[in-house]
Amino acid sequence: ALGWPGVIDAYRSFMPVPKDAEVITLGEGGTPLRFAPRLSSLKGVDVYLKFEGANPTGSFKDRGMTVAITMAKYNGARAVVCASTGNTSAASAAYAARAGLKSVVLIPSGYIALGKLAQALIYGAKVVQIKGNFDRALEIVRDLGETGVVTVVNSINPLRIEGQKTGAFEIVDALGAAPTHHFIPVGNAGNITAYWKGYGEYKSCGRSSSLPKMMGFQAEGAAPIVKGEVVPNPDTVATAIRIGNPASWNGAIAAASESGGSIDSVSDKEILAAYTYLAREESIFCEPASAASVAGLLKTDLPKGSTVVCVLTGNGLKDPDTAITQIEVPEAVEATLDAILTEAGI
Ligand code: F0G
Repeated sequence: ALGWPGVIDAYRSFMPVPKDAEVITLGEGGTPLRFAPRLSSLKGVDVYLKFEGANPTGSFKDRGMTVAITMAKYNGARAVVCASTGNTSAASAAYAARAGLKSVVLIPSGYIALGKLAQALIYGAKVVQIKGNFDRALEIVRDLGETGVVTVVNSINPLRIEGQKTGAFEIVDALGAAPTHHFIPVGNAGNITAYWKGYGEYKSCGRSSSLPKMMGFQAEGAAPIVKGEVVPNPDTVATAIRIGNPASWNGAIAAASESGGSIDSVSDKEILAAYTYLAREESIFCEPASAASVAGLLKTDLPKGSTVVCVLTGNGLKDPDTAITQIEVPEAVEATLDAILTEAGI
């Protein structure tokens, strides 16, 4: 093989994929786990960042989509469908294109980041913008799934979780042990469910001797699990996690309680502060939702000797509009040496 084979072949014995299935992969997974020197000295513990923005479509969704699309194709599906705040739609579109399947994606009109919309369209998905939010789109997708004419590739499809659990395997493989704390953004709650499953499976088969505390963070305006009730009109700058009724609600609760961790919330202000901090101090440009994990870390006190992993779920290039709101876009100056020396302050 040419380098990293993608998550199905990398973790074959943990995958519910039959030997004779054609593996639909774009080389997902194998993402960097980077030590974060400034965050580590700020918090007084070892902090590592799992940069999922390095995946083929720029988010962690590729890990689950390779399994969901491989099995959809194997089982003879002709079309796949998902509801999405953007990243799932981009991943579904790309993997379906590779598999030769039709991909239909339902997205909340006006609330998905520009890069994600561009991706879904350019990969050739049928994009349906609905006059409603993600939660409504997912309800419709469940109904579509029941008609039997399409395969649902949201994380209510357990194959998605099977693929996404490989993030935990990679972290343990890289560190030689599980971290003590795992920080992660929570939207529809599939990913926290998947990581907890992955850490558990690695411990069961003796590849690690401990489990991390699972520290999940929702955006304050979209924090149903923290509040203990559905949020009918969720809102946050982190549109990826603008979700009021997460499908894997119980999975998130189980991960937090069984691990001795928690599900908490961070404000948009805290999210954006972490987002710019990561770019300036750790040279990682992630999307706003991803920064919720680090926003959570910044306000959590940890015992000395902790080893922390924060998952940065998506690439900052997905959402250029939000980046532009956080900086001052410079005016054009005269194209002369003097003008440029003055403007650049050098
Ligand atoms: N971070 C990013 C960048 C996401 O796109 C999502 C979810 C999450 C975090 C939260 O993960 O839903 O498993 O708890 N995005 C979904 C989508 C909802 O449609 O792309 P989760």
